[in-house]
Amino acid sequence: RAAATAATPARDFANLATLNAAIAAAEPGVTGSRRAVPGEGPPGAAIAFVGEQPGDQEDLAGRPFVGPAGRLLDRALRDAGIARGKVYVTNAVKHFKFEPRGKRRIHRKPTAGEVAHYRWWLEKELDLVHPAIVVALGATAALALAGRAVPVTRARGPATFDGRAGYITVHPSYLLRIPDPMARDEAYGAFVADLKQIRSLSR
Ligand code: URA
Repeated sequence: RAAATAATPARDFANLATLNAAIAAAEPGVTGSRRAVPGEGPPGAAIAFVGEQPGDQEDLAGRPFVGPAGRLLDRALRDAGIARGKVYVTNAVKHFKFEPRGKRRIHRKPTAGEVAHYRWWLEKELDLVHPAIVVALGATAALALAGRAVPVTRARGPATFDGRAGYITVHPSYLLRIPDPMARDEAYGAFVADLKQIRSLSR
């Protein structure tokens, strides 16, 4: 059955470039952009961060975490003494899921089924990056990595995902949505403290 074999994605990928090419060629699992945003960073990075999905700016740039949440993540990484260029950054869902509203594209949260659709790719990706620790940024990433819903507030801290050393913390977008500046500063400080712990666990 040669035709069926040809349509089935290769089980193994030589490197991230071939994996990303296969993801880019695959049907999106969500309704929104058709452009896949691949992960970014050196293979063999000690820390891999997993977010939810690319946002509007990430979709336009074709790079993960370059919009408002990405800028906050960059600042927190700096404050924790982690170089962004040395870590791997990716998303649970590789396409921007949105609903058009006039000229704007409104972010839509992926469903558990949509997250599951992308899980196979994420696992292949992490096999290739092979980080010492994989970090779930928020509930969608935790769901993707654990394979089940995980309450971030209660599970926050070190975790194990299918035998991989992991860590669960909040998503930087959550920090951006805290209206009270003092509460936001406090939550930011707790996020940086998590990153410092992640840094020490990665060594
Ligand atoms: N939020 C995410 O989860 N990922 C991105 O790449 C950008 C924003």
